Amino acid sequence: MSTVDGGEIQKAAGVLHAGGLVAVPTETVYGLGANAEDLSALARVFQVKGRPPTHPLIVHIGAADQLDQWVRRVPETARLLAERFWPGPLTLVLTKAARVPLEVTGGLQTVAVRVPAHPVTLKLLETFGGGIAAPSANRFGSVSPTTAADVTAELGDRVDMVLDGGACTVGVESTIVDLTGDTPALLRPGGVPREDLQRLLGHAVPDGVTGGPRVPGQHPSHYAPNARVQLVDPHRLVVEAELAAGQGLRVGVLLPPDLPLDSVKAHAVVPVPALTADYARVLFGLLRELDRQGCEVILACLPDERGLGAAIANRLRRAAGPKPAR
Ligand code: TXA
Ligand code: MG
Repeated sequence: MSTVDGGEIQKAAGVLHAGGLVAVPTETVYGLGANAEDLSALARVFQVKGRPPTHPLIVHIGAADQLDQWVRRVPETARLLAERFWPGPLTLVLTKAARVPLEVTGGLQTVAVRVPAHPVTLKLLETFGGGIAAPSANRFGSVSPTTAADVTAELGDRVDMVLDGGACTVGVESTIVDLTGDTPALLRPGGVPREDLQRLLGHAVPDGVTGGPRVPGQHPSHYAPNARVQLVDPHRLVVEAELAAGQGLRVGVLLPPDLPLDSVKAHAVVPVPALTADYARVLFGLLRELDRQGCEVILACLPDERGLGAAIANRLRRAAGPKPAR
């Protein structure tokens, strides 16, 4: 439940105007927000996140009709997508307007923009009046926060204010679509399924080429909990859990919905919801929970990749990727 009142929104807008950082709730994950036009506030975002300054941020705006202020030319496809999916978990990459500092875009001439679907942050955007640049409010490479408590656990007092808008309802980050090429391309699967984009546009939306690790979602080890995540076939789950336990590891299991709870023996077993939207909403929280329970390895199975399943599978694969030196 959100406990944010009008006074807190006023205060948060003041913090942003003064160059401070405000953690903001969105429907996807919590963001670490700064005034998108304040260079020193932006520098602090990268510092607090521990993120290389070449990795671009998303600019959050209050309404689709503000898009023209932040991008140079709004193609018809952008208007179509914005009209259908905003406010919502869709980010559009377009050619940046002069107003957008290169500090936001990691030096690129393109900018990522979205209108988040959360009443608290929409109210803040209206009160503040500008754009809020916000990456997910976690340390670089770790699991995105889906509650205000997660933000505090990740960032502590390195953030000036945390707006508690309750638990995120989508639970995985926005879908990112690049509209700067000849045809729309999917840079990151997320809260709006590819199928929904394709249905609206009437054609395929293929994966885009994002130019490597410059785009953090592309780092193989993004979204990783402390525990090592291992992807296994459902029918190998029991055996792999035994093998890992045999090596003396504390094993956590994300149990697929069709398996009975007592079928796998492990240090911690959490069943995942059968409905994909429910699974997406709780995924990051479950990974955090297994970390808290001291699991050293987390066994997970890839879900059916239709709809939101694509975003879940993407985050699980990345969580299972090789960890960088941090
Ligand atoms: O749901 C979300 O998108 C959340 C909430 C807070 O809005 N934000 C989020 O931000 O996930 P972050 O910084 O964790 O991920 C932003 C993604 C990165 O993969 C980044 O590379 C990509 O957006 N991005 C930003 N600007 C870009 C650009 N100009 N071209 C291509 N990708 C871009
Ligand atoms: Mg992130």
